[in-house]
Amino acid sequence: QTYPASNIAPPQVSRKQLMGYVGFANLPNQVHRRSVRKGFQFTVMVVGESGLGKSTLINTLFSTPLYPAMELPPPSAEPPKTVAIESISADIEESDVRLRLTVVDTPGFGDFVNNDSSWKPILDSIEQRFDAYLDQENRVNRSKMVDNRVHACLYFIQPTGHALKPIDIEFMRRLHTRVNLIPIIAKADTMTDEEVTQFKARVLADIRYHNIQIFQAPTYENEDEETLAENEEIASRIPFAVVGSTTVVKTPDGRTVRGRAYPWGVIEVDNEEHCDFVKLRQMLIRTNMEELREHTNLVLYENWRTEKLIAMGVEQDQSVFKEVNPAAKQAEERAMHEAKLNKMEAEMKVVFAQKVMEKEAKLKQSEEELYARHREMKDALDKQRAELEDKKRRLESGRPLTPEKTNTRKKGFLRT
Ligand code: GTP
Repeated sequence: QTYPASNIAPPQVSRKQLMGYVGFANLPNQVHRRSVRKGFQFTVMVVGESGLGKSTLINTLFSTPLYPAMELPPPSAEPPKTVAIESISADIEESDVRLRLTVVDTPGFGDFVNNDSSWKPILDSIEQRFDAYLDQENRVNRSKMVDNRVHACLYFIQPTGHALKPIDIEFMRRLHTRVNLIPIIAKADTMTDEEVTQFKARVLADIRYHNIQIFQAPTYENEDEETLAENEEIASRIPFAVVGSTTVVKTPDGRTVRGRAYPWGVIEVDNEEHCDFVKLRQMLIRTNMEELREHTNLVLYENWRTEKLIAMGVEQDQSVFKEVNPAAKQAEERAMHEAKLNKMEAEMKVVFAQKVMEKEAKLKQSEEELYARHREMKDALDKQRAELEDKKRRLESGRPLTPEKTNTRKKGFLRT
């Protein structure tokens, strides 16, 4: 027998001291082993105007030429330009941990004359991925779910040194409820340290002013001090001012580093003094990848799913919505019952009036018949009286009765 969930009483919990080693302290290790066996799926999207260094940064981030065309660029050829939303997946491995990394690259955002709805295809792509996941959840067999939802969106801001552009604000406003936004100041090597600091403050002020939610690593109560400090340090660098490069260059002091060489010096990608690339990678991969995945699953996807299902209930079938709304259903039932009663009452009134009319007609008819009979009888009596009176007069005057009259008398006698 099964019981509704609400009838299942919560179990009584008491604290017990173990008498010896049982083994569940090994649970985290079991989870760890299973996760390692299963591997991880992570999808990152890059959005920003054309030429801001999106593809370069992704290749720099994962220390892998994910974009094959960038692996061996033909000499003197222009770097390829992204022209459509495309996703590139790669299985990368580090210390026996497998990661299925998917990068969703978007074409030069805001490249058109009219950029009013540039955000639309990107939002559609994010929602289509939610849709695909919802489809899988609704399948009979859910053992092999592929998570293609976008877990993080790196939004590239042009290093103008001014404020956010309307197109940046519009994009972030439209997408912050659907994806973890991570703002990035692109090509930070084009600005001085001071300009970067000022620009960051301005960008953050704009984000706050427009109530845009950007991804913030959650802080838990019993977090150790080291992690708290690390999270704080990462948060203080947002928006990350980054420099991307897959090229290895030689520094004046003879080190070989990934960076960009200029006549006046070398910008090192992996040097925290030079840019925020290391902090971005730390947040995205080392520290907060799981939080990004969790926030996508528990908050962003869950909200989208609720909105979608409610909208489906209302738009596709009004009755389905009423079904789940007991007050509306009760009101509808009451209205239907009242209408039924009113109809019955009206029908009864019509039948009653008809019956009354029929009875009245019948009564009138029998009244008329009675009158007619009464008249007839009265006439007969009058006639009889007249004959009797005539007879009386004749008898009194001594005149004999005629045979006809005798007959009449006999008839009259018989009748009485
Ligand atoms: P689309 O694919 O057209 O959207 O361009 P993208 O944003 O992917 O830019 P891409 O990575 O192709 O880089 C464009 C140009 O910018 C290339 O010449 C890169 O070498 C250069 N570039 C990339 N990152 C940086 C950077 O951090 N600083 C500077 N100064 N140049 C960069």
